[in-house]
Amino acid sequence: MSGEFKIDFPVETITEGKVEIVVPKLEFYGVTPSDYAPSRAPVFYNPIMEFNRDLTILAFQAYQRTVGRDIVICEPLTGTGIRGIRFAVEIEGVKAVVSGDINQRSAKLAEYNVGLNGVQKMVSVRQGDANRILSDYSAPYKRFEIVDIDPFGTPVPYLDTAIRALRNKGLLAVTATDMAPLCGVHPKACIRKYGGKPIRAEYCHELAIRLLVACIASVAAKHEIGIQPMFSHCSDHYIRVYVEISYGAQKADESLRNVGYILHCFGCLHRETTQKPFGKTLQCPHCGAKMEFAGPLWLGKIFDAKFCGDIQKENMHRPFKNHAKITKLLSLIQEEAEAPITYYVLDRVSQSLGLPVPPLVPFLQALRDKGYLATHTHFNPRGIRTNAPAKDVQAVLRKMLESQ
Ligand SMILES: C[S@@+](CC[C@H](N)C(=O)[O-])C[C@H]1O[C@@H](n2cnc3c(N)ncnc32)[C@H](O)[C@@H]1O
Ligand SMILES: [Zn+2]
Repeated sequence: MSGEFKIDFPVETITEGKVEIVVPKLEFYGVTPSDYAPSRAPVFYNPIMEFNRDLTILAFQAYQRTVGRDIVICEPLTGTGIRGIRFAVEIEGVKAVVSGDINQRSAKLAEYNVGLNGVQKMVSVRQGDANRILSDYSAPYKRFEIVDIDPFGTPVPYLDTAIRALRNKGLLAVTATDMAPLCGVHPKACIRKYGGKPIRAEYCHELAIRLLVACIASVAAKHEIGIQPMFSHCSDHYIRVYVEISYGAQKADESLRNVGYILHCFGCLHRETTQKPFGKTLQCPHCGAKMEFAGPLWLGKIFDAKFCGDIQKENMHRPFKNHAKITKLLSLIQEEAEAPITYYVLDRVSQSLGLPVPPLVPFLQALRDKGYLATHTHFNPRGIRTNAPAKDVQAVLRKMLESQ
């Protein structure tokens, strides 16, 4: 180990993608994913997030090919340095990476790992608060093509500086692991942090992404910057969004036009979107029950079909360990990219009628036979995206079971 840095905790060397990284020794902090606590280790490392990092490499490569020039990436919450080092080694057209961490041991270990992989000329590691590091790059001509915010918990404290450190048409990638607030277990925390109200509907994971995107749009708009979601997914215990930013007050106004509310009836599963003010008592137009609202949240697209296709193309050339899982996720997202907002969960539809659960694929076909769009969703293996209203979804299910 170079310089003053002495490792005073158990470590091991792992291989991920094309890099070798010294990380805290996993057995020491628990051996199974359920009892392994990455945040208890002196330097954060979570092997489960290899999937997140693999996908990030594919998405950033797809983005780099679109911009067609060498790019600079900032990753100010780096842990062991693994993410930034993988960017330098595995993404073509990366000129430099700025990595950082507030934890001194992280910064030192990341620096060591940079040396271990021979990318000292490409990756610089800074110790300090992410907001401070990002602020240092907020002036014109210093800004990044990509900023990757990968915190433990909420990314909200870093959104403002991340956006300010991006050049026009730059890409902001954000992970959020605080699913309890975003999915409505702690609604007050969600309102405090994200500025929108969640609900515990069956499609709460999609709502989580929409709440985060609306929050990013609101922060960007203050700087007269608009956003466009390019790719997003919910995997394992987190959500991840990739948004392109565009400078200009008009762009900011345009993106804010995508922000509104979802009204949901827990009685009959009816849902609708609105951008108009609504009264205190929201009555379901179908069953008369009181509806709940979620938002403000992003009502526009959360996937760009072309960009998702570009990521899939990149995936075809990479023999990642997670290749099959990535291919499956991307195929599902390509299928649902243009489909309507929110999804139904088959079991929940059956439950609302007190009926058994039919098989999913024939049910999707039955909806299509009725002239509706119907697709799978990556959010839930039993999920259905369709333009059929709830009452027709229920009617198709009832009819299907009757005819069996
Ligand atoms: C989830 S971990 C990062 C994992 C890493 N990106 C990876 O892919 O392995 C979050 C990191 O943020 C660091 N951190 C927490 N607060 C910070 C802050 N205000 N500024 C910079 N780093 C911070 C923690 O020390 C931790 O290493
Ligand atoms: Zn209703």
